[in-house]
Parts: sequence; C-alpha cells; structure tokens
Amino acid sequence: MSQDSVPMLRSYTGGTEPALAEQFERTIARDQRVEPRDWMPEKFRATMIRQIAQHAHSEIIGMQPEGNWITRAPSLRRKAILLAKVQDEAGHGLYLYSACETLGADRTDLTERLITGRQKYSSIFNYPALTFADMGVIGWLVDGAAVCNQVPLCRSSYGPYARAMIRICKEESFHQRQGYELLMTMMSGTAGQRAMVQDAVDRWWWPVLMMFGPPDRESANTAQSMAWKIKRHTNDELRQRFVDMTVPQAEALGVTLPDPDLRWNPERGAHDFGEVDWDEMKQVVAGNGPCNAERIAQRKAAHDEGAWVREAAAARAAKTRKEAAA
Ligand code: 3HC
Repeated sequence: MSQDSVPMLRSYTGGTEPALAEQFERTIARDQRVEPRDWMPEKFRATMIRQIAQHAHSEIIGMQPEGNWITRAPSLRRKAILLAKVQDEAGHGLYLYSACETLGADRTDLTERLITGRQKYSSIFNYPALTFADMGVIGWLVDGAAVCNQVPLCRSSYGPYARAMIRICKEESFHQRQGYELLMTMMSGTAGQRAMVQDAVDRWWWPVLMMFGPPDRESANTAQSMAWKIKRHTNDELRQRFVDMTVPQAEALGVTLPDPDLRWNPERGAHDFGEVDWDEMKQVVAGNGPCNAERIAQRKAAHDEGAWVREAAAARAAKTRKEAAA
C-alpha cells in the first residue's frame, strides 16, 4: 500500500517503536505532512510546541506597539487600517495556539509560560514605537521580515502549522503593503515627515535583522529543524533574502538603510551587510530590552482582567455538560 493510500486514520499506535519511527522518517523524506494523530518522536513534538508557541506569543505581544497608536492615528482611514491589522495579529495568535493544542499543549499553560518568561516571543516587540512613522516601518520591515521568514513555513512538515501559515502569510502581506504605502505617503509630505520616516528606519533596521534568529553558527535548533523539514531555510539564508529584497524597496522609498557596509556584491549575487549586534540581541532575548517589562506587564494585566470571562465560559460549559448528561 503506498503512503498516499494510507487510510485516513493514520495514528500508528499499533506498531512497534522502530516501525513507527521508520514511518515518521518516511513521511518526512517524502515531503509529506505529519498530522496530529500520527506517531512522532517526542523531541519533534517538543520542538514544534516550542516554535509554534514562540510564534503565537510573538503575534499576541506584537499587538501592543501598534495597539498603542490606534487612538493617535492621524485619520479615520489610518485608524481603521491599524485596527484591522491589530485584530489580524490577535487572530494569528489564536490560530497558532490552536495548532499548539493539536500537539497536546495546554493554552493556559502556554500563557503562564509567556507571562513568567519561561517561553519567548520575538525580540522585535521589545523596542518602542515612538512616532506614527514607526507604524509604517513596522508594517514594511517587521511584517515584511515575518513574511520572508514564514512563507517557507507554509511547507513545514507539521500539517496544522503549515496550514495556519497559509492564511497568516496572506494577511502579513497586507500588513507589509499598508506599512509601505503609509511611508510612501509620508515621504511625499514635509521635510519633517521624511525625517520622521528616516529616524524610524534607523531605529528598526538592525532589530528587524535579529528576527531571523541568531547566526547559523550559533543556532541551537536549526540543524535538527532543517532535518525534520520544519524549517526550509536557515536563519542566515532568510536574513540574506530579506536584505536583498528590501534594498530596492528602500531606494524606491527614498530612505537610507543604516548600514555603511551594505553594498551589492556581484560575485555573491547578493548584498554584503554589516554584522548584527548579537550581544544586543542576547540581552533583549534575555529580557533586558527597552520594553520587555512593559510588554509582559501589559499581557499579564490583560490576562488577569479577563479571568472573569474565562470563569464564566467554564461555568457555562460545565452547566451545558451537566444538562447534556442529565
Ligand atoms: N527573538 C526571541 N527569541 C529568539 C529570536 C528572536 N528574534 N531568534 C531566536 N530566538 C530564540 C529561539 O526561540 C531559540 O530559543 P529556544 O530554544 O529557547 O526556543 C534560540 O533563540 C536559538 O535560536 P534558533 O535559531 O536555534 O531557534 P529556532 O530554530 O527556533 O529559530 C526562529 C528561531 C527563526 C525565530 C524560528 O523559531 C521561527 O522561524 N519561528 C517562526 C516565526 C516566528 O516566530 N516569527 C516571529 C516573528 S514576529 C511575527 O511573526 C508577528 C508578525 O505580526 C510580525
């Protein structure tokens, strides 16, 4: 029986461990998807929970820098766009927490791990959004980097994650375009608005390059994640791809990327660029960034204030179960 005709119920609980492991390896080798009911190595499950949870936390925390600007957007149109974007990020977080739950993770536990610092979220959201130009730069560069990093994840080997990525990437593309359009508008404005855009680019460029993870030489997870086809490219490959796609966009916008070492290298067919400040990244990931405490405090406050909603929903669910059982 070929793999393709394996019956729908693919949980391999009946086989021996070696046979199960062999079936798992065959699924990966054939570029097929591992599904929730399939047998999988516990390390694969743990890696997927780690990466998907970190991604989900990033989406939820990522709502804060932009959410703080909704009431200060300069027009109704900009306010509506920003509101839609922040709502999208909430939805991305919910998709990804649901994908995590298919691996047996508990959403309450994941939230607890985020709030207590036992699980991470992307370093990028620990930087302050100081002006409205930051809304454009976050859309253009942060969401642009997210799309660059996440389109390959649409082919990730874990089914629910890959499928969540398809819709998330479509919406991130809207996020990137609205940011770039906002900046194009500002760049056709006053000298002060143009200076505001350049200032935001100067502040966000290097932290955005940190979104792709540490250099491959220091990445603890990339080799295994590539072997399991969770990741399709390494951190450095995607960082390079992002730099190469962003340089012409910056030229069209009329801004300068703050890297004196940035130049086209015809021999490589790519842009050379300066070294990221990895010590800064380590500090921010360790919780010592400009906004880490504020972001977690805001997330904890929202969680505490929402306790009554969770309790009411749980009481309702228990009542419904009791009535159904009666
Ligand atoms: N911020 C915080 N932690 C980071 C990080 C960053 N920018 N880059 C790496 N790390 C952490 C990793 O989580 C890992 O820590 P852990 O083992 O304790 O989890 C450690 O640093 C080593 O990094 P590795 O490269 O070995 O880890 P990964 O193989 O997991 O690669 C990654 C890191 C490239 C971020 C990968 O996890 C990934 O692609 N994740 C999915 C995409 C994602 O999470 N993107 C977040 C961007 S924000 C976003 O998408 C929201 C949108 O609206 C903008």
